Amino acid sequence: MNTFDFGIVGLGVMGRNLLLNIASQKFAAVGLDLDAEKVSSLQKEADPNHIIEATTDVLHFAELIQRPRAIMLLVPAGKPVDSAIQSLLPHLDEGDIIIDGGNTYFTDTDRRFLELSAKGIHFFGMGISGGEQGARFGPSMMPGGDKKAYERLRPIFEAIAAKVNNEPCVEYLGNGSAGNYVKMVHNGIEYGIMQLISEIYDLMKRGYNLDEDTIEQIFEEWNQTDLKSYLIEITGLILKKRDENGLRLINQISDWAKSKGTGKWTSQNAMDLQVPVPTIDAAVVMRDMSKSKPERIVAATKLVWNSKPIDINIPEVIASLKSALYFSILTTYAQGLAQLKTASKEYNYGLNLETVCKIWRGGCIIRADVLEDFRKAFAQDPDLANILLDSDIASKLNESQNGIREVIQFAVQQGIPTAGLMNSLAYFDAYRSANLPTNLIQAQRDFFGAHTYERIDAAGIFHTQWID
Ligand code: 6PG
Repeated sequence: MNTFDFGIVGLGVMGRNLLLNIASQKFAAVGLDLDAEKVSSLQKEADPNHIIEATTDVLHFAELIQRPRAIMLLVPAGKPVDSAIQSLLPHLDEGDIIIDGGNTYFTDTDRRFLELSAKGIHFFGMGISGGEQGARFGPSMMPGGDKKAYERLRPIFEAIAAKVNNEPCVEYLGNGSAGNYVKMVHNGIEYGIMQLISEIYDLMKRGYNLDEDTIEQIFEEWNQTDLKSYLIEITGLILKKRDENGLRLINQISDWAKSKGTGKWTSQNAMDLQVPVPTIDAAVVMRDMSKSKPERIVAATKLVWNSKPIDINIPEVIASLKSALYFSILTTYAQGLAQLKTASKEYNYGLNLETVCKIWRGGCIIRADVLEDFRKAFAQDPDLANILLDSDIASKLNESQNGIREVIQFAVQQGIPTAGLMNSLAYFDAYRSANLPTNLIQAQRDFFGAHTYERIDAAGIFHTQWID
């Protein structure tokens, strides 16, 4: 009794694999799931040299874990988290720790923190990224909230996390729901990059008519360059994969994209904070657009554009596509990181963006070599308003912008949708515009609604009688 180091509630893909990871680091781990099949399959899978137990009985589960207990919830976000907490509470003692490892909406974490503190239970949210493989062999973990509770469990988390240059991809991020918020923005960036890669793939295939072997090879090659990242790597592997009939599996997959909501939350909250994240917005919109498949099929026959063939030079095109992707990925990270900066002030998280970039370098879905560049930028200037203002990043963008301008012109001429690429460039062009035409918007607002405006040549608030 009370000998296990760690308990996990929810033995789905993430829970099971994290538990196996924890046990392989020589911690005794016990899992709880109401589904007896999940419990018995974990017991079968467990390495006999590791200390693993699994049960469907919450009382037995609580009795097995040493006090103060450390229990991580890996159940779907929302009501299941509340139900899991309610079922645990009668069996817990003051000082026990509950960690929510799911993709929980940050305000739910704030609420649960208050409810559980009142009962003497330490609670914190910790975003976990890396999917099945990450959970089993080293995820990136984003803890926030109760720092003392995190410190007690730090040795376990550091042992199971992915490592980059021997540094674990887990570090305390900040107050309250900081961990869930950072994971939400991680996912927003993930949506953006996935959309950008899919647009580049579409341009290669439908636009420039590159053959599929070439496309597959390009992604493999790009992963050896400054584009090196998990999402580029898996794209190469996906394009390679054949189905049981020897056909490329990608061509048999429906284009109807699903989502669980974290990208939408990122966009929604960015709007609340008035932080522009247009590439992430476009990625959410394009997943929604993909759902209207029956309408698109009809529209494809009604809304027509006769594009003209354009002479292309393949090696030049491939170089432009690469620059376009690099440029747009950088500006997507810039948007997400800018959102984190504002959110940190607004919600009093106390985030250090160098730390965020550091723990995103490995284990997570958006891990990429460029994260090291961003880490350095924040190390040099922790108050950097936007990574686009870092001199090294600015030169990289200045050098690669020609590619994206060419690619977008081509896409427009060919009628190929590139909402992600266009919004990345629009973000860059707007951000570097010392003057925007929003003076006209101010004038219009004042014209029809007497909303007033400010002048550049005099202090104060002005209103004009625009017509006699
Ligand atoms: C990760 C992933 C993970 C999950 C996404 C999928 O970091 O490991 O982001 O959290 O796969 O939530 O999100 P959608 O279903 O919304 O695409």
